[in-house]
Amino acid sequence: MEHAEPDPLGARPRRLLLTGAGGQLGTALRAAFAGDEVVALAHADWDVALPPPAGLPEVDLVLHTAGWTQVDAAEDDPQTAAAVNVGGTRHAAELGVPLVHFSTDYVFDGTKRSPYVESDGPNPLSAYGRTKLASEAVAGEDAWVVRTSWLFGATGSNFLRTILRLAAERDDLAVVADQRGCPTYVGHLAVAVRELVGLPQGVWHLAADGDCTWADFAEAIVAEAGLRCRIRRITTAELGRPAPRPAYSVLRSERPDAPTLPHWRDGLRACLALL
Ligand SMILES: NC(=O)c1ccc[n+]([C@@H]2O[C@H](COP(=O)([O-])OP(=O)(O)OC[C@H]3O[C@@H](n4cnc5c(N)ncnc54)[C@H](OP(=O)(O)O)[C@@H]3O)[C@@H](O)[C@H]2O)c1
Repeated sequence: MEHAEPDPLGARPRRLLLTGAGGQLGTALRAAFAGDEVVALAHADWDVALPPPAGLPEVDLVLHTAGWTQVDAAEDDPQTAAAVNVGGTRHAAELGVPLVHFSTDYVFDGTKRSPYVESDGPNPLSAYGRTKLASEAVAGEDAWVVRTSWLFGATGSNFLRTILRLAAERDDLAVVADQRGCPTYVGHLAVAVRELVGLPQGVWHLAADGDCTWADFAEAIVAEAGLRCRIRRITTAELGRPAPRPAYSVLRSERPDAPTLPHWRDGLRACLALL
């Protein structure tokens, strides 16, 4: 009897372990990989700052979305943020199977005025950005390190959902107009990740097409949702958040075969259609 060779890891791995399954990206990945067997672990199932719990099933691939994502709070407690973001990624890599790890545009300092590509040198401004840069280094050789940005989706806590809530209550909202990036819909990113796992490992920039400021994004949210709130443009300094953020963090890939994502406006419409 002939035995078929196991399929090389392609676009449809057979069994996946997903960390951070309760988060916005975890939720989208679960939907995008619904045709596969997904072992979905939320925070309560595995605190990734600790070694993996005993008895995890064998898997072909780990999608590691669990992370400390509170950018401002990381300034006050960088040790705990690092335990989750760096320690957690090390623990995910120690599972010993190919890993998709998610990093951020906040590894860059924002001094460029043309899109950041994979070969650009990182220089994080914030404690969060430093933990994410360190997490890239511990993801290991067998990892796709996905740098993405400004995530939003129909679940969880994100800019789009905050603007929808506040714009329904107020006549005007102050939003920063001096940070430029790529608001990326988690549903579009999750589909791109399916394509990515058929490509070589390494660092990949995956973010929505187009770019804008937070104020532009807020105006688009309000307009698409048919709300009447006025967006008042302010500076980062006026907002006075604890963590510094890059003024410019548009991400593009310099790899010719990189998966491309739809424009952020298409992501916005796709997301609003779900709400
Ligand atoms: N959000 C963005 O704009 C953005 C941009 C670029 C990159 N990323 C990266 O993309 C990944 C996913 O982000 P997201 O937007 O989906 O964030 P999210 O919605 O905050 O989800 C993160 C998940 O991680 C869980 N988590 C936190 N600490 C944990 C721990 N110690 N052990 C296990 N799980 C833990 C959270 O659970 P609890 O809520 O129950 O604590 C949450 O479900 C993160 O690695 C993030 O750094 C995010």
